[in-house]
Amino acid sequence: MSEPRKILVTSALPYANGSIHLGHMLEYIQTDMWVRFQKHRGNQCIYVCADDAHGSAIMLRAEKEGITPEQLIANVKAEHSADFADFLVDFDNFHSTHSEENRELSSEIYLKLREAGHIAQRSVTQYFDPQKQMFLADRFIKGTCPKCAAADQYGDNCEKCGATYAPTELKDPKSAISGATPVLKDSQHFFFKLPDFQQMLEGWTRSGTLQDAVANKIAEWLDAGLQEWDISRDAPYFGFEIPGEPGKYFYVWLDAPIGYMASFRNLCARRPELDFDAYWGKDSTAELYHFIGKDIINFHALFWPAMLEGAGYRKPTALNVHGFLTVNGEKMSKSRGTFIKARTYLDHLAPEYLRYYFASKLGRGVDDLDVNLDDFVQKVNSDLVGKVVNIASRCAGFVHKGNNGVLVAANAAPELTQAFLEATPSIAEAYEVRDFARAMREIMALADRANAWIAEKAPWSLAKQDGRADEVQAVCAVGINLFRQLIIFLKPVLPELAREAERFLNVEPLTWNDHATWLADHSLNPFQALMTRIDPIKVLAMTDASKQDLAAAQDPAAPAPATGNGELAKEPLAAEIDFDAFAAVDLRVALILKAEAVEGADKLLRLTLDIGDEQRNVFSGIKSAYPDPAALEGRLTMMIANLKPRKMRFGISEGMVMAAGPGDKEIYLLSPDSGAKPGQRIK
Ligand code: MSP
Ligand code: ZN
Repeated sequence: MSEPRKILVTSALPYANGSIHLGHMLEYIQTDMWVRFQKHRGNQCIYVCADDAHGSAIMLRAEKEGITPEQLIANVKAEHSADFADFLVDFDNFHSTHSEENRELSSEIYLKLREAGHIAQRSVTQYFDPQKQMFLADRFIKGTCPKCAAADQYGDNCEKCGATYAPTELKDPKSAISGATPVLKDSQHFFFKLPDFQQMLEGWTRSGTLQDAVANKIAEWLDAGLQEWDISRDAPYFGFEIPGEPGKYFYVWLDAPIGYMASFRNLCARRPELDFDAYWGKDSTAELYHFIGKDIINFHALFWPAMLEGAGYRKPTALNVHGFLTVNGEKMSKSRGTFIKARTYLDHLAPEYLRYYFASKLGRGVDDLDVNLDDFVQKVNSDLVGKVVNIASRCAGFVHKGNNGVLVAANAAPELTQAFLEATPSIAEAYEVRDFARAMREIMALADRANAWIAEKAPWSLAKQDGRADEVQAVCAVGINLFRQLIIFLKPVLPELAREAERFLNVEPLTWNDHATWLADHSLNPFQALMTRIDPIKVLAMTDASKQDLAAAQDPAAPAPATGNGELAKEPLAAEIDFDAFAAVDLRVALILKAEAVEGADKLLRLTLDIGDEQRNVFSGIKSAYPDPAALEGRLTMMIANLKPRKMRFGISEGMVMAAGPGDKEIYLLSPDSGAKPGQRIK
């Protein structure tokens, strides 16, 4: 037997400012299946990940929610962890880039790079938001396209005509955060001298570390010549301060990949058999793989190996890059209900259906992967329920009825058994090279052969004939054993089904090598349905619920969603509710007694409302449309009076006022006709 391999595997660190969706899940499920396969084979394989918790987007979102960034990332981490666990993604560790380990490693790596002369420093002129007192990244600047004059375009490219430009070329630029006109301002920035690593990267990227399509893309960048990389951001920023440079922070993408190491180091503290240097040291013989999407290859194939090299660490063995998820042939779409959050899926469907469907479509390349929802239902039902589970459910009853649940010893199908054994190396090889689609095809071809053989023997007819009871047992013992083989092959994809099958088979947890053994004179446990068919109604319910997620996310305090052409983003109608749900909402006429700005919150007004016999304090994200809040005083509006009070940074909000419109300047507070009295119920 060869030595078990030592393998460290990562998936990209999801941003801590949003929910996990099915696009993300493609990556985490792909990685998890590969890791489970390695563990199944007896290799020492460690799978680490973390939330990517830094950057201005996280800072701004926390501000909008009225909580600290630390609270936001703690909430999101809990949500992400639950989503992953429920999709059976089994990390050895899920950490955070906002951690002590990461702070130490990031500082250390930066200082080593500086020591070795790979850090430069120079002044950079950038747009600055004078109201918000912060520098603006390109995506936080909007203005008119310098080429085609389309309004409302982002700072680096025009969605209308496709032009790319510098933010300073935009006409009539505005800060997307405050609406203020940005000014140009200078500041010192720190740069990582990527060109120092040109030669090393040319060698590394062509040495079998990358899939061909990825290597070709990277070669274009290498041929064009590498640029120094700006790794600093000015305060205010949520991240790590650069050692010795007060007010300067590491750009989120500097410390994000270091988060892989930090998560592993954090795990080492709990698992004494793991030695950090044995995995990350220059002379490490362990294998290191990063699973990532094709949108982030520059960070992983250029900056990251260069940072590792410059700081004296080992480089990755390979990057495993996948394409993007589409649903029903198109980019995930909120209005079609195909922008599906992990949790929304889980509310309606079992995780293994999706794991199997992904596996059946995932090759080793970087092509996009389409989830066609009709095909999903059809494929899962036909393969898993119709082919695999069917074998066990066809045979189990006869073994229980005819032989007290004991499998007889004779093997009535030596040729078929041999075919299963001979297929094993090819299935293992397909898993090893991440060609899950091929592995699934080969496994299902075996399932087809097993079913055909059982159908030919027809134990259900034999059972009705006198004197053929032994044959029935012989056929069913083969059926159950072949089912067991299939489960061994599918276990990395379907761990829960495997656990249920192990219970029914009355065996210890199966490992890959168990395929070489056979259950004989062995007692089974009672058979219970191992997997049910997908009811297509559930899929409809999931897409409907996804449309509602969107409606819930539309908060008047959020900036208007960009449609790229100045049109209003269309809000799909929410799902139908019954009268009781409507009647449960207590809507009241409210008189605005007082309206004032809230210090420290750009978008909020504090409203004091009279609703008849009580006053309410309500925070509302309508300031952008009502810059002179006092003008609202004395006006009637409508409020939801029985909304659960919500604790915000500035106080408790006791209800919500009602307004229409996409946000920003287009917010229209609703009012009843004159004559309505404060406190009257709206019915
Ligand atoms: N935080 C960075 C990664 C830092 S790694 C040091 C990031 N986060 S992300 O949340 O945007 O994406 C996480 C992973 O999910 C990435 O590998 C990304 O390619 C992948 N996907 C995000 N949306 C996806 C699809 N729609 N389809 C497939 N993968 C997608 O990038
Ligand atoms: Zn344009």
